[in-house]
Amino acid sequence: MKVIVTRNYEEMCQKAARIIAAQVTLKPDSVLGLATGSTPVGIYQDLVKKYQEDRLDFSEVCTVNLDEYIGLDRENPQSYRYFMNHNLFDHVNIPKQYTYVPNGLSSDPEDECEDYELLIQQLGGVDLQLLGIGGNGHIGFNEPAESFAEETHVTNLTASTIEANSRFFGEGEEVPKQAITMGIGTIMQAKKILLVANGESKAQAIYDTLYGPVSPNCPASILRFHQDVTVIVDEAAFKKVTEQQ
Ligand code: F6R
Repeated sequence: MKVIVTRNYEEMCQKAARIIAAQVTLKPDSVLGLATGSTPVGIYQDLVKKYQEDRLDFSEVCTVNLDEYIGLDRENPQSYRYFMNHNLFDHVNIPKQYTYVPNGLSSDPEDECEDYELLIQQLGGVDLQLLGIGGNGHIGFNEPAESFAEETHVTNLTASTIEANSRFFGEGEEVPKQAITMGIGTIMQAKKILLVANGESKAQAIYDTLYGPVSPNCPASILRFHQDVTVIVDEAAFKKVTEQQ
């Protein structure tokens, strides 16, 4: 794994956005795997800037998102589809029909998972997968478990993830308890992976990912078995590693 430690969140975002921009420049028809949550927001802002100022061209790009809540309509501001439109897709020249997010309202979520897995294969696989990480080491919504889930599947979110995500929801709004997520196997098939993390709340997860046992207790630890992973973290997220050195 290549690990880059930055001074702060802004620098983390700039470096990650540069890697994504380089990918799109070198392979204009890239399939990008994308993530939601607070971590990538600044990265998407930098990409929008690169589109506006440097004419970074997304016209041939395809995207597949990692996950989506079950039960939320695409127009619901808490849905990941809405997040992606709002933070990136509405502001660059990517054809919306080539942006894929699992359908959280499917009448048959299991079927939706199979279709999503097939779709990724039909697109030729993910060229570059962007990942955030949960405080418990989850990637996508692959929560700590007894074993690594392979393919796209329906998952029950842990209490800690529901609690962490509740910050995005208004008072009285219920946080969904289930999601559709790419599996660990799906993520590991990406040709390149870019993991980003900032802030002290991620310090333990980053330590476990880089130095803990490779175990489904910290799902991100499996990334050590991938041949092309870049980890970009700010100093706060790297704190536990620095303390051990
Ligand atoms: C989101 C996702 C999650 C987040 C993780 C970190 O699509 O797959 O794994 O990356 O929960 O979320 P933030 O960035 O909000 O701390």
